[in-house]
Amino acid sequence: MRIVLAVGGGIAAYKSAEVARLLVKAGHEVQAVLTASAQEFIRPLTFSTLTGKKVITELFSESSYVEHIEVAREHDLLLIAPATAGILARLANGHADDFLSTMYLAFTGNVVLAPSMNDNMWSHPATQANLALLESRGAKIVSPGDGFLACGTTGPGRLAEPEDIVAAITPKSDLEGETILITAGPTQEPIDPVRYLSNRSSGKMGYALAEAALNRGAKVILVSGPVNLKPPAKAEVIAVRTAVEMRDAVFAHLEGATIIVKCAAVADYRVANVSQQKIKKTAARLSLEFDPTPDILAELGRKKGDRVLIGFAAETENLKQEAERKLESKNCDMIVANLAAAVESDTNEVMLALRTGETISLPRASKREVAEKIFDQVLKLRLAMSAHGD
Ligand code: CTP
Repeated sequence: MRIVLAVGGGIAAYKSAEVARLLVKAGHEVQAVLTASAQEFIRPLTFSTLTGKKVITELFSESSYVEHIEVAREHDLLLIAPATAGILARLANGHADDFLSTMYLAFTGNVVLAPSMNDNMWSHPATQANLALLESRGAKIVSPGDGFLACGTTGPGRLAEPEDIVAAITPKSDLEGETILITAGPTQEPIDPVRYLSNRSSGKMGYALAEAALNRGAKVILVSGPVNLKPPAKAEVIAVRTAVEMRDAVFAHLEGATIIVKCAAVADYRVANVSQQKIKKTAARLSLEFDPTPDILAELGRKKGDRVLIGFAAETENLKQEAERKLESKNCDMIVANLAAAVESDTNEVMLALRTGETISLPRASKREVAEKIFDQVLKLRLAMSAHGD
């Protein structure tokens, strides 16, 4: 691949020399770009020596004043590591005031951002909003890790490890041959012809799982409750409204599925006597009676055969205990537990409870990154299960 490696001005700039070395070693052609601030931390000579190419350090060179357009046209991928808070803000707002920001606007290939900064700068709503905007425009984010930061604090903000950054740009096809049945979004249970009972689920996690699975070569069947999201182009999408419709769609597609991810926030109750006419307002208290809905995940647990079954648990307390309880009671291979507050957010922080007895905490990251890590664990789990003859 022809890659532009742009280096921002942060202390982690020294790690991007290792990123350059690994990219070259993997056979990529690398054009390094150093922002003015990056040059305060690391010299162009380091990158020209590692990449065998002259490093771009300014918007206007003596030989060409359209170099930013040529570089954009001639490369397949733009990797920015470290991507500082300043770079994220300038890219999100479309500034064109140095080589990197100008070239970014002209660039039509894939963009990968590996941010690094102080933990408070990382958590600031402005940074998070810029990241979400860039991600919604197609950029892939390699989130920073948690740890000791150069500013003396400990928290999220440490540049991802060079190996992980390079792995993130390498396309995977490790889900080829799998058919993954994913449920997403809320269900809506009617009360009368104009009203319904539902929950705050946005469907973002389920759709991110579908995108990640498709990208890694799987066939995806997405059974989706009502959401305001664009369905992934290559997925087979089945739109449902109620828990009963979701159950029927899931079991109609169970046969060919090899992995099932039950991400939907299914209503636990439905109105017992749905009114055929609009309920009229009166001065009296109104009571509704509810019946339980079918527990789709529990039924899947009984009928799953050798399929890998992944359930979700949205909790307000006792995350670990609840995850382990649901793993057992619904006969799942993995429960992905998160705090209920995450349902509307673009990011998520989850704990995975696995059939092997292990629990894994994943740091807060975009839902797409969390989806990738869930599938990494699914593949590991499948290997562990087959080794034990499970
Ligand atoms: N689920 C389901 N069918 C239902 C309810 C839930 O398939 N009628 C699935 C969800 O898709 C999710 C998992 O069960 O994967 C856990 O959902 P959650 O609402 O957290 O758990 P409940 O089983 O409803 O348990 P509790 O109310 O005790 O938290």
